[in-house]
Amino acid sequence: MAIEVFAPAKINLTLHVTGQRPDGYHLLESLVVFADIGDQLRVSKSDAMQITVDGPFAQGVPFDQRNLCWRAAELFGETVSIHLTKNLPHAAGIGGGSSDAAAVLNAMEKLFHRPCPSATLSLGADVPVCQRGRATLMSGIGETLAETNIRPLDAILVNPRVDVPTPQVFKNLTTKNNPAMTQMLAPDQNQALWQWLADQRNDLQAPAITVQPVIAEVLATLASLYPKITRMSGSGATCFALFESRAQRDAAAQTLKQRNPDWWVEATTLA
Ligand code: C5P
Repeated sequence: MAIEVFAPAKINLTLHVTGQRPDGYHLLESLVVFADIGDQLRVSKSDAMQITVDGPFAQGVPFDQRNLCWRAAELFGETVSIHLTKNLPHAAGIGGGSSDAAAVLNAMEKLFHRPCPSATLSLGADVPVCQRGRATLMSGIGETLAETNIRPLDAILVNPRVDVPTPQVFKNLTTKNNPAMTQMLAPDQNQALWQWLADQRNDLQAPAITVQPVIAEVLATLASLYPKITRMSGSGATCFALFESRAQRDAAAQTLKQRNPDWWVEATTLA
């Protein structure tokens, strides 16, 4: 029996870095949502671990212990065969590896009829939130997760096809004690939601731009398309723009694809 699972792109609508622990890990506050685009996985029981990869971003994806999917299966404590169709860019701030690992854990729960171990944070700070796969307020270093409600948002995701290593971005972050996220008071009211989002930040955006200056160009290009909000996700380089309507989003995506044919551009709904 094989289980098919979807590993959606993870988007940090906000990402505040509010401190640093003695062990070096940073304290975060983030509103995390998920896209309707992502990787696709097929997981089945097997006598030995095996990973095969295809898809537009297959190149460079490891198919051994270096792959987070492999380590997720080891943490679960069973051997499986995993086929991964890699549709999302990697080292891109949209949770690629974490979402894949979370999808493997979710599939293994069904395959082996038992819950996965609770220590999944050890795989990566984004793995627990990706296991939930729905809008979440995340804090701590990624282990504290709270339910939140946000209406579906029409978005464009753009990656200029450059890898950004997360540790390097954190290393370039000069101020560790940034202001916390403010409370989202009326997420069901359009104007209040846009204003609240505009008042929040991604504190990793500036340090990521120092690692890959093209991110600034992506943000400026998105801002010229009349979105409500433009921001980077995670530690980059993927940026998103949110639009008032699906028609505006689709027109903007069309324009972007024509202007920047080398960039990865996807229209999506975030929820
Ligand atoms: O957990 P993950 O593999 O995503 O983290 C990659 C790197 O990002 C860590 O090794 C660490 O340098 C940095 N990080 C951090 N604080 C966090 C999450 C990640 O400093 N809360």
